[in-house]
Amino acid sequence: MKGNRITTLAGLGTPEKPHPLQAAFIAEQVPQCGYCTSGWMMTAAALLRDKPKPTDKQIRDAFSGLKCRCGTHMAIMRAVRRAAASNERSETPARAVVRPGARAVGDTA
Ligand code: FES
Repeated sequence: MKGNRITTLAGLGTPEKPHPLQAAFIAEQVPQCGYCTSGWMMTAAALLRDKPKPTDKQIRDAFSGLKCRCGTHMAIMRAVRRAAASNERSETPARAVVRPGARAVGDTA
């Protein structure tokens, strides 16, 4: 781990200026119990860092090891697509906040 940076959910944004993923998860009403939300969001952040405009297959592949017991999978897909769209129009694109070289919690690569 020496020399690596780790970004946690708390490092993505603030209540005043949420990360595009956080804003998208809220807009799509993703969290139900919230138990799984940080894992999905940090995995999505790493995906958008590496693939700013992922296909649905790339999103599903990135999420292959994650499960939501509340069944929010379709809302999560919508949220990631919404955040990815911000890469084209936002001052704070989803791909830019997680710095290149930083590893999100849960990254295994
Ligand atoms: S929101 Fe409850 S497990 Fe995913």
